[in-house]
Amino acid sequence: MKLVLLLSFVAFGVDASKILVWPAEWSHWINMKIIIKELISRDHEVAIMRSSAYTDFIKIDIPEASYIDFYVPYEEGHHLQSMDKVLSQVKLGDPAESSFFGKAYAMVSFVAEQLSMRMNQCELVMSNSTLLNSLNATDFDLVLADPTVMCGELIATKMGVPFVYNVRTLPAELHFSLSQTPMPLSYVPMINTEFSDKMNLFERTLNMITYAYQTIGVRAGLSMMDSIVHKYIDSNRSFLDIVSQSSMWLIRTDFAFEYPRPLMPNVKFIGGFHCQEAEPIKDENLLDWINEAKDGIIVFSMGSMVRSMHKSKAEVIAAALARLPQRVIWRYDGEMPDSLGANTKTMDWIPQNELMGHAKTKLFISHGGTNGLYQAIYHGIPVVGVPLLVDQFDNMLRVTERGAGVTLDITTLTSDELYETVSRVIADYTFTESAQRMSRIHRDKAMTPLESAVFWIEYTIRTKGAYHLRPAAHNLYWYQYLMLDSLALIAAVLYLLYRYLPTTLKFIFSSSLRPKMKTE
Ligand SMILES: *[C@@H]1O[C@H](CO)[C@@H](O)[C@H](O)[C@H]1NC(C)=O
Ligand SMILES: *[C@@H]1O[C@H](CO)[C@@H](O)[C@H](O)[C@H]1NC(C)=O
Ligand SMILES: *[C@@H]1O[C@H](CO)[C@@H](O)[C@H](O)[C@H]1NC(C)=O
Repeated sequence: MKLVLLLSFVAFGVDASKILVWPAEWSHWINMKIIIKELISRDHEVAIMRSSAYTDFIKIDIPEASYIDFYVPYEEGHHLQSMDKVLSQVKLGDPAESSFFGKAYAMVSFVAEQLSMRMNQCELVMSNSTLLNSLNATDFDLVLADPTVMCGELIATKMGVPFVYNVRTLPAELHFSLSQTPMPLSYVPMINTEFSDKMNLFERTLNMITYAYQTIGVRAGLSMMDSIVHKYIDSNRSFLDIVSQSSMWLIRTDFAFEYPRPLMPNVKFIGGFHCQEAEPIKDENLLDWINEAKDGIIVFSMGSMVRSMHKSKAEVIAAALARLPQRVIWRYDGEMPDSLGANTKTMDWIPQNELMGHAKTKLFISHGGTNGLYQAIYHGIPVVGVPLLVDQFDNMLRVTERGAGVTLDITTLTSDELYETVSRVIADYTFTESAQRMSRIHRDKAMTPLESAVFWIEYTIRTKGAYHLRPAAHNLYWYQYLMLDSLALIAAVLYLLYRYLPTTLKFIFSSSLRPKMKTE
């Protein structure tokens, strides 16, 4: 009996691995969950670390996964409230109430609050030896981490286990610089500059300055993490040194969307892995309502983060939507605007992929987050974007540059502007054609992005960390990397030649010629 059990373990257990997931909330969880489900479907055992402050999303159980809960002294959703607060102060609030300095202060205090909460949470985990010992006892093969919330890499390092990041973007493009991926600033624009890959002298200069100040700022901010590393891991290492040990960087973007740029062999683009063919809409009322829409439908979602907005903003939007011949499905959970038209249906949750893939869908109105944009690209739907934060402006730039959409400024948005833009993008079929071209390019791949994500995770496990893909650039000092020492060596040799060669030659010639002259 024991032998049979052992045999069956060998037969089924060889490829199954134990994976620890360190997730983040909001949209980050939506796509981490998809990778987790795929890993589980391939017989891997997945354990997910879950803070007591995490809310709705992460509480939706994946029954086949196990959960490792840890306690933090914040109320549930506290970290989400600070995001809601900054959005309402900066973008979605009453325009009369927000001054420039008020907005700047709100942004800075938001970043400081988020950073200190994340550090505090990490310290609580790293200082809990009961928790760490029980993790270590499980013998995980890999940690899959979201680097926007720190600690996954520290837990992996503590356990001596390789780790893989699933990331869209980090401040100062740390995901590229810490993986030693070249960042040629002459044609690779920084996120937040809203530059394309074709920059003039002024833009290239600003791109470089942006890189410099973001790098200095972010490295200074994250150096606060060093004390945790010194205390719990190694007194000689910095936090960023640990981050740079990542075996694999799975980056949620794609060349259908991103500008061409160099990548390292352990940096993979997996953007759009959450996209799939739309299933039929299950909600029959919704389906009937869509089928009755003679002029098609518009899907409107500001993402999982934005559930409401100031009523004045909602009125502007609702009034514009009410004038459209199409029917609109708006993901919205705030106070109902009075101007809401009969053609507009608000829902607190929408089956977004099913709606995007529906034959009647004409347009997506979005905040420009990558989850929604990739669904639009996948299904070939043009986009009207009202970006709010971080990478959303640059995301919309990539869509508009390819002719698949238009970007509007939510802070100054008027009803007429929204109505006219939406009407124009639907009426002018070139927007849809461009979106469909992006879709064809995005789908034309040897492996789907999800297969690719899971392949590289399993590859890292099989090769015990994929360290053979790690460029030796990690071991160089900056002046070695830039070849400044080689240039110095060449300069020194040239100088010595210049300085001493003529006298040496003179000496050699005169000493070798002199005897001859004497004999003659
Ligand atoms: C440490 O973790 C264990 C197991 O998760 C938990 O029971 C305990 O309360 C934690 N200790 C502290 C001080 O948070
Ligand atoms: C983790 O467990 C291994 C044995 O499985 C042990 O060698 C190692 O010292 C442990 N590490 C920590 C940090 O407890
Ligand atoms: C840190 O570096 C010093 C000197 O290089 C060395 O003696 C010490 O063992 C190192 N400590 C750790 C924890 O590696």
